[in-house]
Amino acid sequence: MLFFILSLLVGVVLSDVVISKALSSRSSIPRVLSLREITSPPSSMVTLPGKEHKNPFTAEFVVLFEYISNILDYAVMKYVADDVRILSKQEGKHAVLHIAAMKQRKSDGEPATRWKWLLFLSDLLMLRCGRALGVVLVTHIEAAAWAWFFIPLYLPCVNAGLPNLFVFHGMEEVEHGALTVQSLRKQTNPVFSLITFPIVVIVHFVLLLCPPIATIILHPQLLLKPKSYLDLLNYYIAFGISFVTTFIAQIVYCVLPFHESQTLYNIMHQVFHKEIKVRGIQFNIVENETYKLY
Ligand SMILES: [Fe+2]
Ligand SMILES: [Fe+2]
Repeated sequence: MLFFILSLLVGVVLSDVVISKALSSRSSIPRVLSLREITSPPSSMVTLPGKEHKNPFTAEFVVLFEYISNILDYAVMKYVADDVRILSKQEGKHAVLHIAAMKQRKSDGEPATRWKWLLFLSDLLMLRCGRALGVVLVTHIEAAAWAWFFIPLYLPCVNAGLPNLFVFHGMEEVEHGALTVQSLRKQTNPVFSLITFPIVVIVHFVLLLCPPIATIILHPQLLLKPKSYLDLLNYYIAFGISFVTTFIAQIVYCVLPFHESQTLYNIMHQVFHKEIKVRGIQFNIVENETYKLY
């Protein structure tokens, strides 16, 4: 067993070195980051105007998303800092949007008490247990964030239940994800990434797959409605695929030193910008900066 683990670690380190060398000849790709100021009314970012479909399981995911995201935003700001200036500013603005959303939730009588343990643990591990652990956990999450923003939005199963805040935040996560990983990977190493890999798998498992369980515990009467089973199916198609994809993305982009696919980036970029237009989310671009992706 010990031999197997050691072989795995050596394998990861060697593949890291070999693949890094192989990829080092790749010429850099420019990536433009924009700092945006939302001009749509704040309430339009959290409510679902004109969306008739209501999936209670997706709604529970959205509550958790609104409460947990600012912890990650703060962590990225802290660890990337001035290395990618606009990226840190984007995360700062995300945190402000999520704080406004949480305030709105609380005034609507939704303090998300049932998720306090997860919020406490996330805050502790990402921000208060030392820089080395915080950096590697954030690298894992940012390497896979595109999967849990893009897939539920792209598939028709739960799209209508995702608020504008999710769409806007997701657009910027897709825009800066590869730059975040590039910046953070310099501060960690593949062995530590491999060791901490299961921690983030558990976080993704709870975040993406457990909201329906919480919903059913809180509202068991939902099990008596036939519609709930269709809602559950839709939820688990979208978020089940997202979860498996986050697992792969963590390995490919965090443990192993592969780069984001430019083709995938272009597809996601188009999908998010189209959705932003369809939903009428308004913003002004106040600053642009171009960075190099290697
Ligand atoms: Fe963010
Ligand atoms: Fe981010």
